[in-house]
Amino acid sequence: MQRDYFYYKNILAGKSMPLAFVDLDLFDQNIQEVLRRVGNLPIRVASKSLRCLPLLQRIIQADSRFQGIMAYHPLEAVKLSQAGLDDILLGYPCFHEQHIQAVLEEVKRGKKIIFMVDEESHLLRIDKLAKKLDVLTKICFDVDMSTNFPGLHFGVWRSPLHTVQDVMKLTEVLKRCSNLALEGIMGYEAQIAGLGDNVAGNGIKNKIIKWLKKKSIKDIITRRGAIVKALEEEGIKINLVNAGGTGSIESSILEPWVTEVTVGSAFYAPALFDYYTTFRHQPAAAFALEITRIPSPGIYTCQGGGYIASGEVGVIKQPVPYLPEGIKTISTEGFGEVQTPIRYNGKVSLQVGDPLFFRHAKAGELMERFNKIYFIKEGKIVDEELTYRGMGWCFG
Ligand SMILES: Cc1ncc(COP(=O)(O)O)c(C=O)c1O
Repeated sequence: MQRDYFYYKNILAGKSMPLAFVDLDLFDQNIQEVLRRVGNLPIRVASKSLRCLPLLQRIIQADSRFQGIMAYHPLEAVKLSQAGLDDILLGYPCFHEQHIQAVLEEVKRGKKIIFMVDEESHLLRIDKLAKKLDVLTKICFDVDMSTNFPGLHFGVWRSPLHTVQDVMKLTEVLKRCSNLALEGIMGYEAQIAGLGDNVAGNGIKNKIIKWLKKKSIKDIITRRGAIVKALEEEGIKINLVNAGGTGSIESSILEPWVTEVTVGSAFYAPALFDYYTTFRHQPAAAFALEITRIPSPGIYTCQGGGYIASGEVGVIKQPVPYLPEGIKTISTEGFGEVQTPIRYNGKVSLQVGDPLFFRHAKAGELMERFNKIYFIKEGKIVDEELTYRGMGWCFG
């Protein structure tokens, strides 16, 4: 079925706007495409890029290779565990005692939740609380995967564990922690996974990014490999070498020591993931705004819309006009706090009360704007489900 303006307009007719929806036909295609891209490795699902429990469950149930979740907050991990999910890797360190304790209580109930750590204070605190609760718990080292070129830090600032020596030093601290066991290492190569290299109009910049990525991938392979080898030589058995994200699957799976790849954004395929040379997913998530006034012919002002994505600021973090084809943002106003003017001179006749469709720049953040989402399949609404926000799950 052709996914044009009238397809979604007819399906969603009469619904209160703004609204968000997931096109399950496209979502399921994205699941299959992720499985194809990853090859034979297990896949850990990044919950932050979905923020909707039924959709997380849909992915996990789709194939046995979807093994586990990467959660972004300890209390979220606890909620997910209590909702029946297991094998949850905390993608980021946590430090608040109550948060750690809540996770440890879940571990004590027999659930597998792995803490992320990158320095001594993380280890000592988790160990202290684990001793108090008399529980043995798994931890994972977050290894920094950015690449330093002369005068350019290519990547993000995450972890102080950059070299083999940094990692080995932390394993010395770990030896003093009787209630902790090292499950493995995670390295998120953000500069490959989250940086588009095929951005329209970026000509030479795309070329430079591609070149930097190529060099950086070499550095990542060498460094991650050396760290795994050093741990093995030290007699430390590791079960987990987690790598990547949606944008780096093709390079992450090249490393023979990588045991699993994390993927999140690929399932909704938000606008920022349109700009990669190596893959293209289907736009499965979108939102509709209602035209509430027409200030001038060709300008349609909608209610709502200011759903700007996080990170470095720039127009690329705005929602992207989707349908009808040809709708355009007005650069002097952008997406407003309560209303958004849109320019359109195309063939579709638009009236007050009609929807316009947009895609968010990022994946999970759209779900923080809506309590529920409509699930669309084969030309109709088949379900209406709560987002994290709708469930009262708010983890910042
Ligand atoms: C640790 C970690 N792994 C993986 C990802 C990739 O997620 P996605 O597939 O949504 O890009 C992220 C995203 O920020 C992350 O922080």
